[in-house]
Parts: sequence; structure tokens; C-alpha cells
Amino acid sequence: MSEFKRTFITAALPYANGPLHIGHLAGCYLPADLYARFKRLAGERVLFICGSDEHGVPITISADKEGVSPQVIVDRFHSLNKASFEKLGISFNYYARTTSPVHRETSQQFFLTLYNGGFLVPREEPQLYDEQAKMFLPDRYVEGTCPVCSNPNARGDQCENCGTYLNQTELIDPRSKVTGTKPVIRPAKHWYFALSRFQKQLEDYIESHRHDWKENVLQAARSWLKAGLQDRPITRDLTWGVPVPLEGAEGKVLYVWFDAPIGYISATKEALDEAINPSSRLLEPDEKDWRLWWQNKDTQWVAFLGKDNIVFHTILFPAMLLGHNEAEKEHRYVLPQNVPANEWMNLEGQKLSKSRGWTVELHEIIERYPSDVIRYAFATMLPEQKDSDFVWKEFQARANNELADIFGNFANRTLTFAKRNFDNKIMGNRNELDSDGSALLSFFGTRAKDIQGFYERFRLRDATSATMDLARAANKYFNDAEPWKLIKQDRDKAAQVVRSCLEALRALAVYFSPITPNASASILKTLGANAAEENWSNAHEPKLHGQTEIGDVEILFPKIEDETMEEEVKRLQVMAASVESREIAVAKANASSVASTDGASALISIDEFKKIKLRTAKVLEAERVPKSKKLIKLQISLGEERRQIVAGIGEKYTPEDLLGKTIVVVANLQPAKLMGNESNGMLLAVNDENGVVALVGPESTAESGLEVR
Ligand code: MF3
Ligand code: ZN
Repeated sequence: MSEFKRTFITAALPYANGPLHIGHLAGCYLPADLYARFKRLAGERVLFICGSDEHGVPITISADKEGVSPQVIVDRFHSLNKASFEKLGISFNYYARTTSPVHRETSQQFFLTLYNGGFLVPREEPQLYDEQAKMFLPDRYVEGTCPVCSNPNARGDQCENCGTYLNQTELIDPRSKVTGTKPVIRPAKHWYFALSRFQKQLEDYIESHRHDWKENVLQAARSWLKAGLQDRPITRDLTWGVPVPLEGAEGKVLYVWFDAPIGYISATKEALDEAINPSSRLLEPDEKDWRLWWQNKDTQWVAFLGKDNIVFHTILFPAMLLGHNEAEKEHRYVLPQNVPANEWMNLEGQKLSKSRGWTVELHEIIERYPSDVIRYAFATMLPEQKDSDFVWKEFQARANNELADIFGNFANRTLTFAKRNFDNKIMGNRNELDSDGSALLSFFGTRAKDIQGFYERFRLRDATSATMDLARAANKYFNDAEPWKLIKQDRDKAAQVVRSCLEALRALAVYFSPITPNASASILKTLGANAAEENWSNAHEPKLHGQTEIGDVEILFPKIEDETMEEEVKRLQVMAASVESREIAVAKANASSVASTDGASALISIDEFKKIKLRTAKVLEAERVPKSKKLIKLQISLGEERRQIVAGIGEKYTPEDLLGKTIVVVANLQPAKLMGNESNGMLLAVNDENGVVALVGPESTAESGLEVR
């Protein structure tokens, strides 16, 4: 039992700008739910909340791209993601959204408290401004070269390649995402949060958890502290967001990482308001005060989140809470008691990537497999200590060889045997177990304590495999007791064995219920057990009532076929290939926009043709782009100049075919990116409807770099 009276559990509020994928499930939401369900089962008071993060530049960029308002985007993905969570059985007490009025008011109030406490100070600093679009370029609206690792595509707030959090004016060669032009520097006024003042307090906070936090989390927090905390602007020049509640701040909103974590507070308020969340009437009366969950030392807050969110939950938001505590001493917020963030989950050996088409989205997978199967399989593969790899074959093996063949099989054989031989009823009464059967149940009781320890220490993979071991032990008991023989020799003894099996099955249903809630509920129902009487620590005690009619036996976990897994892998490959073809098409379309006039068949003048610079080139190096069937990356010489181009000719040519060849390229084509590779030009090839037939190349007497006209 923990030293706290109640546990407040949050899962990071996902951006409502796209569908969630299996990486989100494994990194954050499934662990959070396993933990929340376990805690409830252990009889603890729990409030578990989440919601959509609906502000921020990722959302306005998606909206700009589609030419719709940000509201359209967030409405769409809020509903989609909320529905996916429901289907997966993620048991939030409430799922909020940060566009709600309660949230706007709560974050503005929070801002004002910090402001009045002197923690938010206006400053005029240089910012990047797009003169063509007439706007400042916050965060991801600008890209450029990372000053740390030279990644050419670092974003205005962060370099994804090396993980550095950047100040946008540090970008080398910045370009506007809106117009592609080079922004100028202009001073702009913003409110800065005095993060640097919390250095010492945060160091103490982090170190006070050096024994109970995960190593990856400590490391991320420490590396920020080590670099020295700097004050950060927490307002932005945007219209989408929570307006800054000050005079003279028109046209400015709160930075998304300022308002989003306050979303946990506003979500709590909404979760406890019966008019907004009717199910909150089930809480105890005193639990309906939001401050009980936030400002009470008997409450522990556990924050689940993905790896990329660690610093915001261990540094930035804690500092905001500490500032608030100083500004308003009579109401002191608790800081996260634990932040059990996971590492990444890969997919079939490659990094998950939405833009590469290498992903499995939750709203899709949930249409194809039962939620319990997904939950169990993922629970065995959580990236808790290090990155894990999701492989469909392993998904199948977990589902078939463990869930169905061990737990499912025990349920099935026990129920079928009991029904067939004992008139559909539970025999005898609760004390009539054979001695091995009662030994099995007391073994369950002992192991349940160990498993509890796993849950308490966020070792959810261990909790899952140890739970499956209980089902293994139950099967072994069934095999050893041989009830199918006993029934012919000693019917009373057989009845005791069956009764032990039924009690073991009931207990297993309880132990599995954080992982497979649907199957567990259905087993308890079949046994006529009262779910309200069950909890983690008494599950091993016999409690079934004799003479209860056993309900229908259903197949709990249908087996997954080999072909189904092959289809999944194919689906991935097809998706990745279609992204690739689309990129090739876009690169070609860019090429044609340089060359063509408006009509497809319109004649062009010689001057127009002269705009296209065709040159001879020699292939110096050639290699396949990893994981691509079509793309070959070429290093070519154009006279003095060397360049890289990427061409979709890999189905016809091997890299070896190309070495030393003289080809013709369009030399003045806008650069394009194909599967992450820069292409500076396009080679000419003859095509028919099936693709490339032959390369265009001059006789080998031509040197490279010469004009073709
Ligand atoms: N929206 C962020 C993301 O998806 C997470 C926000 S967590 C919160 O990465 F604390 F800000 F709510
Ligand atoms: Zn970098």
C-alpha cells in the first residue's frame, strides 16, 4: 500500500492534428491504463484524465495545408482519437479538450497569477518575420539548419535530429514554411517565464526522486538542468490559442506548452463537474473538489507520457507550478510524484514514421483485432527500458500461443468440463477444494503481492508476464489433476478439482482484468461472480456460490491466421511504396511547373525552352535508397560541379548498371526530397505506362557538364 490516500493519473494530452498510432499506445496510453485499472482494483481512489491538446503550430500548419480552419482539424481528430481510446478500453474518467471555455479561463487565470507574482516579464527580442506573408514565424513555421548538428531541416523550436531545443534566431539559413522566403529579423514583444529562477528548486526536486524515477527520465531532466535553465518566451504571435489576458497583448496567444499542461487542471475541473461529466456522480462527495487532486499532500500525481515530453513535465510545468505556489501561498500544487515515460516503439525493424507511411494507426488496428488481444500483445512489448520493436509475427505469437493457448485454453477447458460433467452448475461449496487446488490458490495470493510490486514500480511488462505465469500454473494443475480420469474413478474428488479450477479461473479473471478487461468481465459473468466483491488482494480466496448456473462459454480470444499477418506486412509495404511514388510524382510536377505554360498542349517559345537547363552528366557513384524499390541515389559530375540526384529507376537498373554512364539531367530543377534524400536535378529517361524503359544518354564522346539543346 502506498503512503498516499489517492492517485491522480494523467496521460499526455495528444495533439488533435492527426490519428494516434501504436507508438502512442505503447509509449503512454496503455501503460497509463494498466496502472489506473490496477490501482482501482487494489481498492485505491483514482482519477484518470486525458484530453486533446488542440492548440499550437502543428495544428495551424495542418489547417493551412488543407485550407480549412484549425477548428475543423481539431474537431475531426478529437472525435477520432477519443473513439479509438474508448474502443481500446482506455478507462479515462474524462477526456477533455483544450479549446473548452473552462480551459481558457483556467489558463488565463494561471497566467495572471504568475504575472502578478512577477514570474512573467515582457521583453523585446529579435524574432523571425516573413515579409511576404506579413507575419512573425513562431516555432515550426520556420525551418533552417541546426547550429548544433547541421541538420538542414531543423524546426524553429527544436531539431528533431539531435533533440536540441532551439531559439528560432539560432537557425542557420532560416526559411519560412509559409512562403519559402528567407525571413528577416524584427524585434517583437513577448512575455518570458522566469524559468532560470527555479534551477535550484528543480535540481532538488529531480534529485529527491533519484531512487524512484526511471533512469531515462532522470537523464533527460538532468541534462536540461546541466545546460542551465533559461527564461523562455511563453507567448506567440498567433490567433489560434488562448489569448494573452493582458492589455497591449492583442494578437498574441499563450505558447502551447504553457497552456497544454494547465489542461490537466482544467480537465480535472470538468471531470468533477456532473453537468459536464455525468459519471463523476460516482465519486465520493469530497472527491469532487478539484483541489483535492491537485493541492493535497495525500494525493500523488503520476504523469504518463512519451519520451519527447519528459522535460516539459519534469522541468517546465513543475517550474510553473512552483511559481504559482510562491505567488499564491495558500494553495500549493503538488508536483508529479512519478513520470514513468517510455522509450520508442519501432515497427518491423524501422522507426515509425507517419510521413513515410510506416505506421499502424489506432483507429485501424482496432477494427481488425479485439481490444483485449491488442492490449495483451502490446503489454508484453512495452518499450519500458529501451526501444522495442513491434513485429506482426510476434503480435500473432503473443495472441495465439499465450493469450489463447494458455489463459483462453484454461478458461475453455475448465468451463466446458464443469458444464458437461456437473450439470451446467458449480458444484459443492467454497471450502471444498482438493489440497493441490488450495495450494494453487494460495500460490496465486503470494504471486499477486509480487505482481503488485511490479505495477507499483511501473514494470508493466513484468506484471503482464507474471500474470500469464499464473495461468500457466493453472493449466499445469489441470493437467496434473487429470479430472477427465478422476471423473470415472472418484466423482467427489473430481468435483473438488473442478471447483478449484473454477475458483482459479475467477481469480485469473481478476488478475487479468487490467490487461484484458473484456474477457475478464465475461468470465466473471459466466461464473456468476460478483465483480464488485473482487479486488486484487482477495482474488485468491474462494468465493463462488454452489449451485450457480454456469453461463455460456464463448471463445475469448480468436486465433490469428498466418495470412492475416502477411497481409499486415504487405499493407505496410504498399503504404510506404505509395508514399514514395507520390514523392516522385510531386518532384516531377515541380519539374513540370518550371517547364510548362498553363495549357498541357500549348506550344512554347524557344525562350521558354531555354529556361530548362539540360546538361550532360557522368555517374560517379550509385546506391539504392534503403527500403526503397524504386529509388537510386546518384552522385554525378556536371563538369566541375558534383551533385546528388535521386531517381526512380531502381526497378529497371541496378546501381552497377549506372556507374560511369553519361546521362542527361535537368540542371535547374528546384531541389526535392525523396525519402529523406536531397535530389538536385532530374535525369531524363524514356517511359511507357509500366515505367522506365531506357535512360536518355548521349554518345560516350560527350563530356559531362555540357549543354543539351
Ligand atoms: N500535445 C503534446 C504531444 O502530443 C503533449 C502535451 S502534454 C501536456 O506531444 F502536458 F501538455 F498536456
Ligand atoms: Zn540538430
